[in-house]
Amino acid sequence: MTVTGLIREATISRQDAEALLATVLEVERAWIYAHGDEQVNPGNIDRFRKMAAARADGEPLAYLLGYRDFWTLRLRVNRDVLIPRRETEHLVEWANECITAGARRVLDLGTGSGAVALSCKAEHPEADVCATDLSPKALACARANGDDLNLSVDWREGDWFDAVPGERWQLILSNPPYIAAADPHLNEGDLPAEPARALISGETGLESLRHIIGRAPDFIEHGGWLLLEHGFDQASPLQEALFAGGFITISTRRDWSGQERITGGQWLS
Ligand SMILES: C[S@@+](CC[C@H](N)C(=O)[O-])C[C@H]1O[C@@H](n2cnc3c(N)ncnc32)[C@H](O)[C@@H]1O
Repeated sequence: MTVTGLIREATISRQDAEALLATVLEVERAWIYAHGDEQVNPGNIDRFRKMAAARADGEPLAYLLGYRDFWTLRLRVNRDVLIPRRETEHLVEWANECITAGARRVLDLGTGSGAVALSCKAEHPEADVCATDLSPKALACARANGDDLNLSVDWREGDWFDAVPGERWQLILSNPPYIAAADPHLNEGDLPAEPARALISGETGLESLRHIIGRAPDFIEHGGWLLLEHGFDQASPLQEALFAGGFITISTRRDWSGQERITGGQWLS
């Protein structure tokens, strides 16, 4: 069987088939285009067919490839972590503005694969970045990414701020779970394969976000920023919660598709 023959027989998108075959053959995707007539050995045919079948059954491409590109980094991912989303790059963008403006002590709550913490550290090696997660398996993945990329982040395990008792930060970031438990979107796309703990937050979806806003004043320095990623319809209650919690300079930024996605405020009390 040739490279082209294998791509043709797959019952998944051509793009996914090419990405999977490139991973199996340990080549760049461009190689596939230039070597369509090349014979593939039986072991690799078998591996490719199994991966293509899993993809057809709904397994996310990123888990099959074992990586996802995010910001400027290639991050390893597995079923223990959320697949980093493009929208979250807006959180990194805003965080980097705060670091450029002087925030040096940075905390990423619920780090998953380490996407946000590692992207900030990659842009700003001078920042002291700490990242937490409740899941030891997620932290193992994040730590492995830090080691692969030679980026030094202080990884801590624990329930939100319990992981960093008695410490204060100039910038607190989080992309916490924010989907309501009964939201039908949980049955769509990659979501059924991703860890429920990374996606679901109580009956309204706002529970983790509200918890973080409520406790942040004890962990943020005067002049520090709290930046939160959230669902497209959650900006308004979060702005209210931030204001009620004593934050000021509150604003919301939209993502690539125009949805309200990141809300932040400053602590000047
Ligand atoms: C939406 S994922 C975000 C992962 C990563 N920051 C990203 O943007 O790709 C939320 C993360 O929060 C973690 N998490 C959920 N509940 C938590 C808790 N109570 N304390 C700390 N982390 C928690 C999950 O394990 C998951 O890794």
